[in-house]
Amino acid sequence: MGKFLTAAQLTSFQRHGFLALPGFVDARRCLDLRDRALELARLHVPPPDKATIFTADGTPLHASDQYFLTSGEAIRCFFERDAFDANGWLRADAHLCLNKLGHAMHDLDPVFDSFSRLPGLAAVAGDIGLKEPLLLQSMYIFKQARIGGEVKCHTDHTYLWTEPRTVIGFWFAIDDATVENGCMWALPGGHRIPVKSRSRLNASRTAMVLETLDKEPYPTQGLEALEAARGTLILLDGALPHMSGPNLSDKPRHAYTIHAIDGSAEYLADNWLQRPTLPLRGFAMN
Ligand code: FE2
Repeated sequence: MGKFLTAAQLTSFQRHGFLALPGFVDARRCLDLRDRALELARLHVPPPDKATIFTADGTPLHASDQYFLTSGEAIRCFFERDAFDANGWLRADAHLCLNKLGHAMHDLDPVFDSFSRLPGLAAVAGDIGLKEPLLLQSMYIFKQARIGGEVKCHTDHTYLWTEPRTVIGFWFAIDDATVENGCMWALPGGHRIPVKSRSRLNASRTAMVLETLDKEPYPTQGLEALEAARGTLILLDGALPHMSGPNLSDKPRHAYTIHAIDGSAEYLADNWLQRPTLPLRGFAMN
């Protein structure tokens, strides 16, 4: 038994590679984070020539874009592919066309900072084996009604590689996530399959390249829908294959994720996300 998690919860996380904790966060706090995300979206909308569109395989459409590559220590806005018309103009108000905000709200914005360090998170991180958890990346994912795009099957270790592998996803349902509005799907036990690709910077550090380690795709059968009510925390092992479908419904599916690594592991210098000036912090509030 852990400090926060029961023995049964720990066993389930180890066996399946994910664990849902319904009611981890008050609905009120979720709604406050939602309001703040929409405010940040209005404040940080980039000029049109900097607009970066996100594709379903997790790479920005303009992978060489410094706007994306330097977002590890900033608050930046990324758009949905369908956000622009044929002439390159946004179809609606910018904050309604966003795919996500990333990637350092947890260190740069007070509302996100306190949400990211809610009581209980440090104990949960310790229970699942992070000895020195460091919050590496935060993303606020809008998955807007009707235009929210799919995210193809991937593992988070592919993008945030440590030796040994330590990355854990902390995914919070800010809205109710259902099959209809594009909830996550994951392959139970799939974290035992060796990770099949690694995304890293090219030699000139101007673009991301995807290195294939195993050509065989992940099984498409057996994925489980991770439907989650507002306030649910879902823990995801870094090697767990997961994905989400497009949001074709008329309900938004906002979510917030933090990716944490262990400070005792080596974080590779050619990972895309780098923090040259902003030190990484843990879950403790200070
Ligand atoms: Fe992911």
